Amino acid sequence: MDMGTPDFGGGPGADDHAAGGHGGHGAQAMAAGTAGGAGAVGIGSAAAGAATSVTALAVDPDRPADVHVELVARADRVTPEGGEAFDGFTLNGQTPGPTIRARQGQLVEVVLRNEDVPAGVTVHWHGVDVPNAMDGVAGVTQDAVPPGESFIYRFVAEQVGTFWYHSHQASHPQVVGGLYGALILEPAEGDGALTADAIVAVHTYPGGQRTVNGVVGDTRQTAAPGDVVRVRLVNTDSTPTSVWVTGSSFRVLAVDGAELNAPTPVDRTAVPLTAGGRADLEVTVPGSGAVRVQVPGGSLVLGPERAEASTSPAPREEVDLLTYGEPADVGFDPAAADRRFRYDIGRLPGFLDGAPGYWWTINGGILPAVPMYMVQEGDVVVMTITNNSGEVHPMHLHGHHLLVLSRDGVPSSGSPWWVDSLNVEHGETYEVAFVADNPGIWMDHCHNLPHAAEGLMTHLAYVGVTTPFRLGRDSGNDPE
Ligand code: C2O
Ligand code: CU
Repeated sequence: MDMGTPDFGGGPGADDHAAGGHGGHGAQAMAAGTAGGAGAVGIGSAAAGAATSVTALAVDPDRPADVHVELVARADRVTPEGGEAFDGFTLNGQTPGPTIRARQGQLVEVVLRNEDVPAGVTVHWHGVDVPNAMDGVAGVTQDAVPPGESFIYRFVAEQVGTFWYHSHQASHPQVVGGLYGALILEPAEGDGALTADAIVAVHTYPGGQRTVNGVVGDTRQTAAPGDVVRVRLVNTDSTPTSVWVTGSSFRVLAVDGAELNAPTPVDRTAVPLTAGGRADLEVTVPGSGAVRVQVPGGSLVLGPERAEASTSPAPREEVDLLTYGEPADVGFDPAAADRRFRYDIGRLPGFLDGAPGYWWTINGGILPAVPMYMVQEGDVVVMTITNNSGEVHPMHLHGHHLLVLSRDGVPSSGSPWWVDSLNVEHGETYEVAFVADNPGIWMDHCHNLPHAAEGLMTHLAYVGVTTPFRLGRDSGNDPE
């Protein structure tokens, strides 16, 4: 078994490894071995010559931390405010875990301690393009942290925006059960006053309990009439949702931690929110009463204490990010792509890890018969994602941001639309582009977490990068 067949996307490496052979220097980056013949699979090859281990892709260990956070993970009985108890997980005794805030340029250090989560835990910084060793993927960038042990994450906040963190070990049960939180990266000191903000982290706990910031149904935050608030929406669920505002027009300032160019005011219009995705809205508190930011099954009211806020049904109209805002320079030329990949999602009967089923396919194969996308640092990469699988898939590439070029052949004509989580509906085709500027081995998977566990995942790997970690039954590592 291995993790996939190297796909060089027409760039260097393709000729020497045309047959998907595992012998050459390039393919060694992902040549896989069966560790102990016990069902464990890995990506790296110990034999690689000038290989870089993922563990070396980290920040300067001597640089002191600017922001230090400790997270203690526990298996816990959880009762969301206004909801029913279930057996889940907490971070520092709460779920969602504490909101982590840092300013651009600061070094964030997070000590994760697993008190008693039997399967082990990790933390992945969703949407933050951290150095690979800090990516928190069990079996790829680290081993899952067993009960009684810790792992230290260190990264510099280079981006500004709304992000979130979650376990990437047994991620379906652990994220649903509570191991997640918001991560807010703010402009550096001196880059102007911070605006007031409000977080709307949408999460559905076991038993279908829809919450906003851990509260079932409606919650509120005090704000004065006339306040301009940056509302940070995070969809921590596995399915898409949408958000709309009752009592005010608004603008969509950012998507997935990237500011939009020249966003215009909209009213009575919903904003789609991909699973794993974020959107920042600019909302003004009205002169009287309060404004309500709504998602199906929950809301956040912003206004003076006890001020009334009305509700409205979901608007039929949606903001289309393909046309919203104005074009701007994107800093690279997608037409000069060094590599072009296809990521075709389908579904076929077959076997996954020996189990018969109707499994997701990538380019026609069931995991591990999927492509491993191979790149070199500096490459401009274009990827075409299609979906003919009968269901929607929120596609998430780690460590990079994707620029949407087109949808169903229609070029993007609004603001540059950068994503780390892209909703691909059945029948849709997206063309996306990115610059390979963050060496490592990066998951590229569906963020409907059960789908990922059902095989809708592969990796983007830089030639020459290896991992000492192992995935699979006997490794203790199970990223999904
Ligand atoms: Cu939000 Cu691979 O994860
Ligand atoms: Cu999916």
